Formats: sequence, C-alpha cells, structure tokens
Amino acid sequence: MTADILSAQLPGDRVRPLLEAAEAHDGIAAFSEAFVQGLDDDRVRHIHFLSEHDGEVVACAGLAEDGSAELVVHPEHRRAGIGEALARKVRAEHADAGLWAHGNLPGAQALAAKLGLKVARELLVMGISADDIAHGAPELPAGFEALDYVGAVERWGRDAVEKQWLEVNNDAFSWHPEQGGWDVERLHRAMEAEWFDPAGVQLLYDGDQLAGFHWTKRHPDGTGEVYVVGLASRYRGEGMGGPLMQAGLQHLVEGGSPQVILYVEADNIPAVKRYEQLGFEVCESHVVYQ
Ligand SMILES: CC(C)(COP(=O)(O)OP(=O)(O)OC[C@H]1O[C@@H](n2cnc3c(N)ncnc32)[C@H](O)[C@@H]1OP(=O)(O)O)[C@@H](O)C(=O)NCCC(=O)NCCS
Repeated sequence: MTADILSAQLPGDRVRPLLEAAEAHDGIAAFSEAFVQGLDDDRVRHIHFLSEHDGEVVACAGLAEDGSAELVVHPEHRRAGIGEALARKVRAEHADAGLWAHGNLPGAQALAAKLGLKVARELLVMGISADDIAHGAPELPAGFEALDYVGAVERWGRDAVEKQWLEVNNDAFSWHPEQGGWDVERLHRAMEAEWFDPAGVQLLYDGDQLAGFHWTKRHPDGTGEVYVVGLASRYRGEGMGGPLMQAGLQHLVEGGSPQVILYVEADNIPAVKRYEQLGFEVCESHVVYQ
C-alpha cells in the first residue's frame, strides 16, 4: 500500500489527538517542544505533511528549515507503510533531512534501517532523584551573587539583564545547532512557553557582570529539568559550574520536584562525566537518523 501524503499549514488542532495517542502507546512524546510549537506558530517556519484515514489525521511529519524533522504514525495505523512514505516525502523535500527518534524505539530503528539511515547524533536524558541532590544554597566566592530573573530585572532593568543573558548564551553555545545564535526575539519566544517561570531562571553575577545562567523548567508532573546552563568563557575552569548547577537544582528541589532531568549530547563526554559525578544517570536516548 502506498499512503497518500498531503501538505498542511499549521495543523495543530488536527494533530494533537494523534500525538496524545502515540505518547500513551509509546510512553514517550514523538514531537519535541519546538515541533509541537511549530504545529501552531508560523514564526517557527516548519512545514507539515499528513496522512489521513476516514477524515482523521493518522500520521504527521514536521520539517524545519535546518533539515531536522520529526514524524509520527498513529499506533493503530503502524506497519502499513505510512511511516516510510512520510519519511521519503520529508527527504524528497530536504535531501539530507535528519529524522529525530525520541526514545529510539524499535519502529524507528526499523524504519531507519529500511531507508539506509544511520545515527548522526545522540542526545541523552539523564536523571537524579531529589533525595540524591545536595541541599542548600550554592557556596559562592566573594563578590559573586545568585539572583533569579525577577530580582535581576528589578535591579538592572529588563533590557540590561536580557542583553547579558544573550551574550553569555551565545558565547556558551556558539557551537550548538539549536541553542546558539539567539537574538532577543528568539529569547522572548522561548519565554512565551506556557511553563516559563521567571523565578526559575537563576543568574550568577560577578558584581554587575553576568558570569552564567541556569534556566530551569518544571514539567506538569513536577519533574524538574536543568533546561539550559551556560557559563561565559572567561568564567570557565574556575569551579563556577558546581555553584551554577546547585543554584538551579536548589530552586527545583525547594519547589517540590521529586526528580530532576537534563538533556546532554552523548558525545559531550566531559559534561556526561560531570553529571554522573553529581549523581545523574542516563535514562533515555534520543537519536537523529540521517
Ligand atoms: C517509527 C514510525 C514512524 C514507523 O511508522 P510505520 O508507519 O509503522 O512504518 P512503516 O510501516 O512505513 O515501516 C517501515 C519499515 O519498518 C518496519 N517496522 C516498522 N515498525 C517496526 C517494528 N515495530 N518492528 C519491526 N519492524 C518495524 C516495517 O516492517 C517496514 O519495513 P518492511 O517494509 O521491510 O516491512 C512509527 O512507529 C512511530 O510513529 N513511532 C513513534 C515516533 C517515532 O519513533 N518517530 C521517529 C521516526 S524515525
């Protein structure tokens, strides 16, 4: 059977039930936050392909301008060639598109093998229970201070705080495909996320200079996430990573998170080692097939 694949614009309302059914079946979400946002927000500039059955959307792929793509087939419509047809459509649109496989499930591995794709990138989820996290405020050298975004904005004003936040972010993530090269519009878009909590952004100041930031996230089930941690280059190698991690972890644990997770590139060996030393363990793998 060859599935008919249609193009669609901002199909969020029609695709959400499909995403819910797939997550209930697979135990992991098929679309990441950016791809969920792309279903409704044209600023994200994703294009979408769908497959329908009896008027319902049973499969969807999102394709970003940088060639990253995510695709999902409804659990009741799998093993019928729809996933392969969607993946071929995506790769016809963008020749070297990379397909994300969250959880790297058997179906994704089989589809990738059929298409001759290999793992090009692996992102790990590492987790730690709140009981294993050290309690208390971070110990900071003289002259350093941890403030949350609200406190920092009160003191220095929003524009000044965000200017330094972006400078440190772009310095720390100059190499990173998604987190690097942010401007204020991109930062504000991220801050529009439903879960965004200004008190969950911990900023580490050396006097009036931002040395680093630890942006935390709390999931609806209470799980905390080390969302983004960045240290300006001139503050690296001086033992500031530990206090910066602790500032965010303390915020999450005090807010009642029973566990904390984080995402890290599998090939970022120093970071993975550092998180293991803090007690984090690998609990999920997300790969890109290309
Ligand atoms: C991965 C996914 C999109 C596959 O969709 P699908 O419509 O079932 O895939 P297809 O029917 O086109 O199958 C493609 C090939 O993989 C094989 N395959 C698919 N699922 C399989 C499974 N669970 N076990 C073994 N083989 C499997 C098929 O048999 C087929 O090969 P064949 O034609 O030689 O038999 C679907 O399982 C899904 O939505 N998973 C959750 C989201 C996800 O992982 N997305 C990442 C995609 S890279």
